[in-house]
Amino acid sequence: MAHYDPLVIRRAEGSWLTTVDGRRLLDGVASLWCNVHGHSREEINQAIRTQLDRVAHVTTLGMSCDTTEELASRLTLKTPGDLDHVFFSSDGSSAVEAAIKMAFQYWQQVDCGVGSSKVKYLALDLAYHGDTTGAVSLGGIKYFHKLFSPILFSPLRGPLPCTYRLPAGVSPDQACEVYASQLETIISGNRDELAAVVVEPLVQGAAGMITHPAGLLQQIRALCDRYDVLLICDEVATGFGRTGSFFACQQEEVTPDILCLGKGLTSGYLPMAATVARRKVFDAFLAPVEESRQFFHGHTFAGNPLAAAAALASLDLFESDQTLHSLSGKEKRLKQELACLDDHQNVGSVRGRGLMYGIEVVQDRESKSGFDSSKLIGRKICERATEKGVWIRPLGDVIVLMPPLAIQEDEIVMLAAAVVESIQEVTFDHS
Ligand SMILES: Cc1ncc(COP(=O)(O)O)c(C=O)c1O
Repeated sequence: MAHYDPLVIRRAEGSWLTTVDGRRLLDGVASLWCNVHGHSREEINQAIRTQLDRVAHVTTLGMSCDTTEELASRLTLKTPGDLDHVFFSSDGSSAVEAAIKMAFQYWQQVDCGVGSSKVKYLALDLAYHGDTTGAVSLGGIKYFHKLFSPILFSPLRGPLPCTYRLPAGVSPDQACEVYASQLETIISGNRDELAAVVVEPLVQGAAGMITHPAGLLQQIRALCDRYDVLLICDEVATGFGRTGSFFACQQEEVTPDILCLGKGLTSGYLPMAATVARRKVFDAFLAPVEESRQFFHGHTFAGNPLAAAAALASLDLFESDQTLHSLSGKEKRLKQELACLDDHQNVGSVRGRGLMYGIEVVQDRESKSGFDSSKLIGRKICERATEKGVWIRPLGDVIVLMPPLAIQEDEIVMLAAAVVESIQEVTFDHS
């Protein structure tokens, strides 16, 4: 396999990256899943510049910035239900970390009789919630997380609600009920200890773009209500239009108790994340200051005004560009361009929602068994695509397609063509 030096980018515009030596590459993974409106959008750049001339940073501890306040209000117009209280941090992992602690402290303080015993979490198999210690504890990808097990807490582990590899004897129509029933067994059996169920709604990105059966999130919400457990939705990857709706949970009309946001919040321009809580969670922290019920968690750069300005400009662009409106047409086009892989003997599954797709390359389509990992098939396919002018990154042998939502249809055609050809060529070399 050819050896590639890491690409060094000097400029970027729209969906295109330009390296220091002048190569142009289509950004097929939205700069690690975060770019929404394309690179170098004048509206976002200008908003950051304008904010810079006012104030670059002030703390949110004991004070705030009006731009950050405005963002909090605007965000809660977008979040479902009474998710009205925004806690800012700097990256998705920190948003999850805050959610873990918030859920714990909620049960310690809420008047429910069994509060203090609710100290456990339920996470799904192959979950990914970030790389800080709490988030890694929830994580279920052994390749990333196993090494750290001596320093992690152990969550209860639910199934991987996969629609491609189903449990033996389970049909696609039965999958939702089967996974929900497995989850109910765990939740009901641990209801007095369980603080929260944590899920990536609809699509588990880092697990390999695993799509959940339709209706499962709604069932998980119902289980959390039935057994008095909080629901935390980690929408760091799925939020901000990525799966076709503003937030993925809205597709199932679910309001989580705590919602984690990151990546696309600033359209991927500056580091910012948020943990958004429902009123009942927020209320559990209210008390005279002497009672010390406040949330003891704060990051220096939380709510940074420059990032908030970028996020506000991004929210404006969702409206002026009608980003969500054009998305279903783009998804349709992507699926159409990838349809030629339906009969490819080494393509097990093309799956996803919105512009969050994965193509799983397998050695044997019938048994769904993968190539030996030492063959690095996914990596080779992505390197071949880079030679063809498209920048993508694999997750094992799942080829991830996650371009900026602002990608144009002709660019989708180029992206798909490069990926299809690369899959055909590399799998042919290994046949
Ligand atoms: C679902 C999910 N949660 C959390 C994170 C962590 O976000 P960050 O890399 O900004 O810390 C990621 C990152 O990919 C993610 O996909």
